[in-house]
Amino acid sequence: MVLQVERAVVAYDGRPVLDGVSLTVHAGEVVAVLGANGSGKSTLVKAAMGLAPLTAGEVRLFGTPLRRFRGWHRIGYVPQRVGAGSGVPATVAEVVAEGRLARRGFLRPASTADRRAVAEALDAVGLAERAREPVSVLSGGQQQRVLIARALAGGPELLVLDEPTAGVDAVSQELFAGCLQRFVTYGGTVVFVAHELGPLRPLITRAVVVSRGEIVHDGAPPAIDNDHVHPHAATA
Ligand SMILES: Nc1ncnc2c1ncn2[C@@H]1O[C@H](COP(=O)(O)OP(=O)(O)O)[C@@H](O)[C@H]1O
Ligand SMILES: [Mg+2]
Repeated sequence: MVLQVERAVVAYDGRPVLDGVSLTVHAGEVVAVLGANGSGKSTLVKAAMGLAPLTAGEVRLFGTPLRRFRGWHRIGYVPQRVGAGSGVPATVAEVVAEGRLARRGFLRPASTADRRAVAEALDAVGLAERAREPVSVLSGGQQQRVLIARALAGGPELLVLDEPTAGVDAVSQELFAGCLQRFVTYGGTVVFVAHELGPLRPLITRAVVVSRGEIVHDGAPPAIDNDHVHPHAATA
């Protein structure tokens, strides 16, 4: 399997925000992680990426326990955005090229393959013509696509995205859906956190609903109303 979280507990100041969560993701799945604000979605994703400390339980990536896992080039991770416009003076192409670092090693210069991967990733998210522009001049949705291109540039097998469509314009959402569709067609696995599924809905093979640090639903996507997800409707 691609990802296995077993009875994971994450506690901050003694308060569990992830309370014994188990989740197994197999190759080719597209899993949406849903739930209210503060329910623990980001913490679950961070725990899976080794970015939140486990108090108990275990995480395995591609069958290897987290502490021994070295295949980070097999994973593309896009964290939840903390406000837009951080003023980073990097160009679009530079940010996407960071996605090659895990493959390339820090001291080696970019190869032809690196440059091609960056160009292909930018093309996939519809930003090929913006490569030399500063990221700061792009819209929020375009900046989000830059981060997705960065994750794709590494040629991952698993994409993990935390609210990739939050605050993203409709055009960017559609482009992102197409991009994920291709990624999955070529055998990729996706785990993403979302509030509204929107154009991603047809891609999903499974929905996991988190509530107060626990998984309260794991299966078919929950009922929708005007395409807005009501996580609590799925807890029955
Ligand atoms: N680093 C942290 N330190 C303390 N509390 C945290 C930290 N990260 C998250 N929390 C708390 O854990 C709970 C779950 O947070 P989070 O996983 O970000 O929720 P979600 O992504 O579902 O909105 C929230 O109450 C949040 O305040
Ligand atoms: Mg979150």
